[in-house]
Amino acid sequence: MFFKRIKTPGIAHAAYVIGNEGEAAVVDPRRDIDEYLAAARAEDLTIKYVIETHRQEDFVIGSAELARVTGAKIVNGRHELFGHGDIRLEDGEDFSFKGLRLRALHTPGHTPESMCYAVFIPDSPDRAWGIFSGDTLFIGEAGRTDLPDPKKTGQNAGLLYDMIHEKLLPLGDQAMLFPAHGSGSVCGGNIAERDESKGCTSGHGLTGCMQLAVSSWVFTPLMFANATLAARALFGKGAK
Ligand SMILES: [Fe+2]
Repeated sequence: MFFKRIKTPGIAHAAYVIGNEGEAAVVDPRRDIDEYLAAARAEDLTIKYVIETHRQEDFVIGSAELARVTGAKIVNGRHELFGHGDIRLEDGEDFSFKGLRLRALHTPGHTPESMCYAVFIPDSPDRAWGIFSGDTLFIGEAGRTDLPDPKKTGQNAGLLYDMIHEKLLPLGDQAMLFPAHGSGSVCGGNIAERDESKGCTSGHGLTGCMQLAVSSWVFTPLMFANATLAARALFGKGAK
């Protein structure tokens, strides 16, 4: 199995190339696709799929260009905001290629169409090895909820909180987090500087990231969304 994180300096963006047995997928590529092509070529992998977590607002996504050059199919969710997609996955639907399995999880909150993808690899077919979390959950922070519609910031924050707790945390602490952005991105206020999700706090993996995200909201009450999320975390209120 091949896995590589490819960062875009300046906008703190991260794309991922994941491959096995001669085939690869690229997650959330930027418009300049040369580095993805080179990474695949170096490993004798053919890029067959482009996977989108959401409609990116802070950079021009390279899905169409990558599909045009390689013939890859674009994989995303069912929400109309995605626009074009060759393979449209339902919430909870599995997508497999060459022994790798991705489980699509619809996780609205940052944006209505946002998807995460739990990754299951041959060595760990039953427990998620990782999660492509887009802008839903970063290392130590969650995605902004004021971008699609500032009037719905609080509502979206509640939704995001529920999605993280109901769909991501149950995947388990062994799952590594592979978000679309790192420290310095405008998509999250307090993203940690490291790339690895393991050992975020006293906890590990997802739980550690979530704990740190919640504590940053408590002490950085920049947005109503943050306050809402922090309050729900502290007092255990449901979001419905
Ligand atoms: Fe985003």
